[in-house]
Amino acid sequence: MKLFDVYPLYNVTPVKAKGIEVWDDKGEKYLDFYGGHAVISIGHTHPHYVKRIKEQLDQMAFYSNSVQNPLQEALAQKLGDLSGCENYDLFMCNSGAEANENALKMASFHTGKSKVIAFTNSFHGRTSAAVAATDNPSINAPINKQQEVTFLPLNDFDAFEKAIESDEYCTVILEAIQGVGGLDEPTTEFFQLIAKKCKEHNVVLIADEVQSGYGRSGKFFAFQHHGIEPDIISIAKGMGNGFPVGGILIHEKFKPSYGLLGTTFGGNHLACAASLAVLEVLESENLIENASELGAYFREKAAEIPEIKKVKGRGLMIGLEFDFEVADLRKKMILEQHMFTGSAKNKKLLRFLPALNITKEDIDLFFEALKKAL
Ligand SMILES: Cc1ncc(COP(=O)(O)O)c(C=O)c1O
Repeated sequence: MKLFDVYPLYNVTPVKAKGIEVWDDKGEKYLDFYGGHAVISIGHTHPHYVKRIKEQLDQMAFYSNSVQNPLQEALAQKLGDLSGCENYDLFMCNSGAEANENALKMASFHTGKSKVIAFTNSFHGRTSAAVAATDNPSINAPINKQQEVTFLPLNDFDAFEKAIESDEYCTVILEAIQGVGGLDEPTTEFFQLIAKKCKEHNVVLIADEVQSGYGRSGKFFAFQHHGIEPDIISIAKGMGNGFPVGGILIHEKFKPSYGLLGTTFGGNHLACAASLAVLEVLESENLIENASELGAYFREKAAEIPEIKKVKGRGLMIGLEFDFEVADLRKKMILEQHMFTGSAKNKKLLRFLPALNITKEDIDLFFEALKKAL
């Protein structure tokens, strides 16, 4: 059997990694400023993370959600403490798409409606409702197009007010900082208008923090830069530092009932151990502050490079915009400079999504390499 060929692959085979360092099968070293698409939050093979998972594996890897699992409770408690979102309940699943799928489902259950407001250049995943709320027709199959989604331009106050006044919608879903789309974000005024109007019209506000959450923006959640409180927050990526895990934080005003949501693998023992290890390291190594400080340092350095036309994003969720398409630059960065970076729907944007414990020296190395590649 061969692999279903859906990924255009670089000819690099990583076999070992530590922190932001990655080695390929020939022993060549690379620096990972992409974090496997914003997934690596505390660094590859962090010793505390490895220890926690190994210990859990020796105890028990999995049991279903039909029995008590104190690890899930410990995780919910720690997540509430660190994020400041104590007035939410946690439901665990396995990926970002699944998180958004459950968030959209909750919004529909809650309101009895099905229409969704999403935004231009959004990306929410590839499952049924999540992909329908993703602004990319090429990944929406006819079966996905049954969902009714209205795409509005980000930060268009009039278009938003007009749509929400219709009282047809169950939810507004948005990324607090757009990832795949290219690092655009709602202004504070726009976010606050959305929150206010959602309350007035009993529309569920979903903040997709799958990529921007877990400290990457310099606060635990990126919506916290804007003084609003979403109804549901979706999480994944940095949550497990590579272990496949996701979840939604559901405001306590939503009442659960048995069977409303469910999953076989979600919240399993290994996923909880990985997720707890991530939170413990984020806290003990002050990585959210580090993301904020190093993000500021990165911007200072970027300002010294004339080819960079704009720096977008917050913390260590950064996009560098050039006045040319960056596919070749990204290729040079990986094949010649041995540095992983990311791309976006905006083809002129190079994305920087490293682990949150990088240092100023790492950033210096990145810019030295970027200058050479330019
Ligand atoms: C903002 C956002 N939401 C959802 C997803 C989907 O996550 P997953 O690939 O884990 O399903 C992604 C993935 O890139 C994302 O960036």
